[in-house]
Amino acid sequence: MTLTGKRVLLIISGGIAAFKALELIRLLRKQGAGVTCVLTDNGAQFVTPLSLQALSESKVYAELFSLTDESEMGHIQLSRAADLLVVAPATANILAKMANGLADDLASTVLLATDKPVLVAPAMNVRMWLHPATQANMATLTGRGVQVVGPDEGAMACNEFGPGRLAEPPEILAAIESLLSPASRPLSGRHAIVTSGPTHEPIDPVRYIANRSSGRQGHAIAAALAALGARVTLVSGPVNVPDPAGVSVRHVETAAQMLDACQTALPADIAVFAAAVADWRMDQAATGKIKKQPGAAPPSLHLVPNPDILATIAAAGPHRPRLVVGFAAETDDLLDNAQSKLRRKNADWIVANDVSPATGIMGGADNAVHIISADGIDHWPLLAKDEVAKRLAARIAAALA
Ligand code: CTP
Repeated sequence: MTLTGKRVLLIISGGIAAFKALELIRLLRKQGAGVTCVLTDNGAQFVTPLSLQALSESKVYAELFSLTDESEMGHIQLSRAADLLVVAPATANILAKMANGLADDLASTVLLATDKPVLVAPAMNVRMWLHPATQANMATLTGRGVQVVGPDEGAMACNEFGPGRLAEPPEILAAIESLLSPASRPLSGRHAIVTSGPTHEPIDPVRYIANRSSGRQGHAIAAALAALGARVTLVSGPVNVPDPAGVSVRHVETAAQMLDACQTALPADIAVFAAAVADWRMDQAATGKIKKQPGAAPPSLHLVPNPDILATIAAAGPHRPRLVVGFAAETDDLLDNAQSKLRRKNADWIVANDVSPATGIMGGADNAVHIISADGIDHWPLLAKDEVAKRLAARIAAALA
């Protein structure tokens, strides 16, 4: 029994594949898991609460405003009492609600209120699956750390062929086992600090110095470390990417605030500095808006260096994290510059990437990196930033094992 003592909250949304949830419950129970079901109104068109209750041997929840359910177990508690939330089948509609933070029934409210990992098993018509709206919703969800199994490709109930079929119950069970087994969470018990995004250094109350960092790579690393079981503190500058699920986020603006948030978050086992910290700030930001004076020369800005967050945290001392990883964003002499950063900042590894405009890496979805350590250089191919993050998290887990 691979899931003894584990609790799964299974959310069943509408769709012809909802009947497969019954087989999934049977498999989960056989592996020792406790299963509590939440059934949406549409799901109830395809399976009955009674059959779910008989197989799960637990009360089935459906109504958001049921007084008995609220007194027995409020939706917040319901969303937190499980080790994992599984949405199977997940319709285009519930995925859209999750991506947009809607909470208009019990299932979507529980999904919005949870702090637990979430696995979705999409099932829908092939055109609905391939629609840019659904694909954008999936990108949002996976960017927040939501795990996905399927959909499979094949003949569908609507007489079409293609991706959209619910993954088979044994496949969903395997995904659940890998999310809940200790081997899939090698960083559990570890604390990681990750910096991400740019910093904004005020010039006056309306203007600031910034850079083109999107935060995508740093946020993906935070999500990947959390997926391996780490407790993650993400210190993020101003970005437009969503906070990853299951990660505690400190939002900051300036380099000084970022350093302060990192120091407050110590002690940590792992620190990854993916932020593009502004190297300089105004000596004295103006307290009022700097005005143009007719005929006068433009103002000159007197800049002073910002603290180096990576070098400060990586300096030898009792609070130095065991593994400190920096980034080197370069446009010239990538590997030489990165190697000298490794030594100068006392980092254990430097993830070096070429950010020349032609590469499209800054702000883009892909990254080609080289991992530099005292042992040598690993060259990784061009990968999606999510994939770079997963590989880096796996490498960190192996180094700390
Ligand atoms: N870094 C930091 N604090 C700073 C500047 C950089 O923590 N004030 C970190 C970055 O998060 C990154 C690494 O140092 O992990 C290298 O950043 P990069 O901008 O490539 O290097 P710089 O030190 O700024 O050097 P230069 O701008 O001269 O290349």
